[in-house]
Amino acid sequence: MLTRVSRIETTLVHTWDVLQTLTPDEYQEFRPVVGREGASGFQSYQYRMLEFILGVKQRQRRFLRPDGSHATVDVFDIHGADADATRDLELAWKGPAVYDAAVSLLASRFPEFGIEPQRDFSQSYARSAPVFTAWKAVYEDAEGHMDLFQLGEKLVDVEDTFRQWRFRHLTTVSRIIGFDAGTGGSSGVEYLLEVATESIRQPLFVELWEVRHALLA
Ligand code: HEM
Repeated sequence: MLTRVSRIETTLVHTWDVLQTLTPDEYQEFRPVVGREGASGFQSYQYRMLEFILGVKQRQRRFLRPDGSHATVDVFDIHGADADATRDLELAWKGPAVYDAAVSLLASRFPEFGIEPQRDFSQSYARSAPVFTAWKAVYEDAEGHMDLFQLGEKLVDVEDTFRQWRFRHLTTVSRIIGFDAGTGGSSGVEYLLEVATESIRQPLFVELWEVRHALLA
């Protein structure tokens, strides 16, 4: 299933190949319509759902404004979200993220490491030393833990492709509107650069990225 998810993400990444051919003047023809009343990707409830399922549980999102100051937006405050969308968002917010399922599997396979499987799912996942130790044991003996090793790599695929979507969005936005401000009120490329950088500095499936460095060390 995770293979299918990352294939879908790859397909979405490739849609930028077409969109990046949009010239600034062509985009300007419809930008005032799509951006009316401050509408932007900030209002995509499906994107927020995806973030929640991947474990990003930041309700107040800080964003950079054109004047360099920071403002916050409540990720539940979405233009035109109907009752069904709001309920789905609430459920995804309170529910476990995909990585929580992997962590509880690790907990049952490695009881000796004392992994705590239960946590407050409405918070972003925080790095755990026992989880890191468990993934390290898996990666140091991939042959002996082939199913967990494959699970780890498929999770990395999902996060890696999610990052790629973000970076392609960023580079496409840069070539279409340059450093112009976003219709949602952010500084545009500067804001997108900030969140893209954060996605590398603070990975979602954090121990799976950390283990790569640990193996080399
Ligand atoms: C090609 C023209 C596009 C431009 C110029 C553009 C520009 C921007 C800008 C400047 C932002 C920052 C928020 C703001 O101030 O508005 C943003 C956010 C966003 N855009 Fe786009 N965008 C484009 C296409 C798309 C497409 C095709 C999608 C999805 C299919 C998309 C999805 C999003 C999402 C989900 C966010 C929120 C990202 C976050 O908060 O991390 N954008 N976009």
